Amino acid sequence: MARNTKKAEYGDFQTPEGLVQQVCRFLKTNNVAPKSLIEPTCGVGTFFIEALSVFDEVREGYACDIDNYYIEVLKNQLSDYDVSIPTRVETADFFSKDWESDLDNLPEPILVVGNPPWVTNSQLGQLRSDNLPVKLNHKKMKGLDALTGKSNFDISEWMINRMIEWLQKKQGTVAMLCKTSVARKVLLNAWKHDKRMEVATMHLIDSKLHFQISADACLLTVTSSDRKHKDCKVYNHIEADNPIQTIGLRDCFLVADIHGYEETKHLIEDSQHYKWRTGIKHDCSRVMELEKIGEGLYVNGLGETNELEDLCLYPLLKGSDLTNGRPPKKFMLVPQTRIGQKTKYLAETAPKTLEYLIKYGDLLDQRVSSIYKGKPRFSVFGVGDYTFSNWKVAIAALYKKLEFFVVGPYEGKTVVFDDTVNFIAMDNAEESHRLADLLNSNTANIFYRSFIFWDSKRPITVQLLRSLDIDGLLEELGNEYKYSISKTSRQLQLI
Ligand SMILES: C[S@@+](CC[C@H](N)C(=O)[O-])C[C@H]1O[C@@H](n2cnc3c(N)ncnc32)[C@H](O)[C@@H]1O
Repeated sequence: MARNTKKAEYGDFQTPEGLVQQVCRFLKTNNVAPKSLIEPTCGVGTFFIEALSVFDEVREGYACDIDNYYIEVLKNQLSDYDVSIPTRVETADFFSKDWESDLDNLPEPILVVGNPPWVTNSQLGQLRSDNLPVKLNHKKMKGLDALTGKSNFDISEWMINRMIEWLQKKQGTVAMLCKTSVARKVLLNAWKHDKRMEVATMHLIDSKLHFQISADACLLTVTSSDRKHKDCKVYNHIEADNPIQTIGLRDCFLVADIHGYEETKHLIEDSQHYKWRTGIKHDCSRVMELEKIGEGLYVNGLGETNELEDLCLYPLLKGSDLTNGRPPKKFMLVPQTRIGQKTKYLAETAPKTLEYLIKYGDLLDQRVSSIYKGKPRFSVFGVGDYTFSNWKVAIAALYKKLEFFVVGPYEGKTVVFDDTVNFIAMDNAEESHRLADLLNSNTANIFYRSFIFWDSKRPITVQLLRSLDIDGLLEELGNEYKYSISKTSRQLQLI
């Protein structure tokens, strides 16, 4: 197999020496004093060699990797260093190895240290690789996907879950470099299954600097315990003294800030009165998003000018426009007034628009998402009465900013959003300002922040927004928000 393919399949990013030294020093100053050392996906064994020299009490060491070449490199290095501690180094597949019987014989406490592969099952699928636990290999993936709803996951998640299992029988520490999203999933799984463990820690690392990749990553440490702590302190970097947040499992929720959660958890309830929505999804911006260059003249994303009725074209705001306070630059073609509506009706009301859709029909027909299958031709999603209400309270879904805006009409026309915006449709400007003020209040801010993981792909979801009981908040904050419009919330200056 070519080295590059192998590198991708094995999620191979060897840890640089500087970071390895930093991690080992950190563990030692935090009283990790192992008698056995394990590096399960060791590569050239930079962690293994450093740890053997840093931890004085180590009596036995074990390292393995699936890549025979790396194992040979490590063996050579060990003979060069003339290591006196007994070590066993071998080529082995993490997933098929009988770890339990190997671990049985190792003296405690153990330290499992390293950096498991950075690869997801869908990347493995593209490479036609089965570097997965046997029960999850691709042949069985389809059925399992259907059962778990998991379509994409990092294989390191499975590996670290397994390592934490070892700590249920053995005293010791697992210290792994991984994506922060993986660390959270691993912790959530351990907490949900009542695993015995100390308060965990995550120390953020700069993956661009160390691995030349852009991913939110950390050093995750989990230590065995008689207790079942369900908290994890998160630090900005490996040498930081104070945590920036404490995440944890509370009442079945994965909470991003346990203090904020305790303070505002009485406000958890589906908001009955107000309905959160996501903007329109069309998956074809080249055809559906256009710039107006003159009366009835619009240029689409392919650079082609078309004459269209204004009827189905609405000023468009994306999450980035909203967050940066920019007025609409483009218009969105919204060919339906409700989901599933047949688009043939346009022949009567907007024949040029229908002609336009037919002209670019091939591009619209190529949309791969299954949501378009079996739906009328040119369908979009996230459209209904709420789309056309003139006033909206909105927030960008993908930005690291918790601010709600009031959006009114632009040049006399209703503004629509794409699916990077979440919003509530409102009746008028006054109520919109009142609601936005309420949502921008300190209490709502603490509530939402206690659930938001800013490194997620979509930090602000409709599900999160819906979980705040707006009526309950209004009752709690009282008259200030009920009867006056303080207008502290920003209205986009569109008109
Ligand atoms: C991110 S690299 C880290 C290597 C080393 N631990 C370090 O920190 O430099 C991941 C390593 O996992 C190995 N690997 C991938 N799949 C494996 C498997 N199924 N079993 C054992 N090792 C595996 C790769 O060959 C690669 O060396």
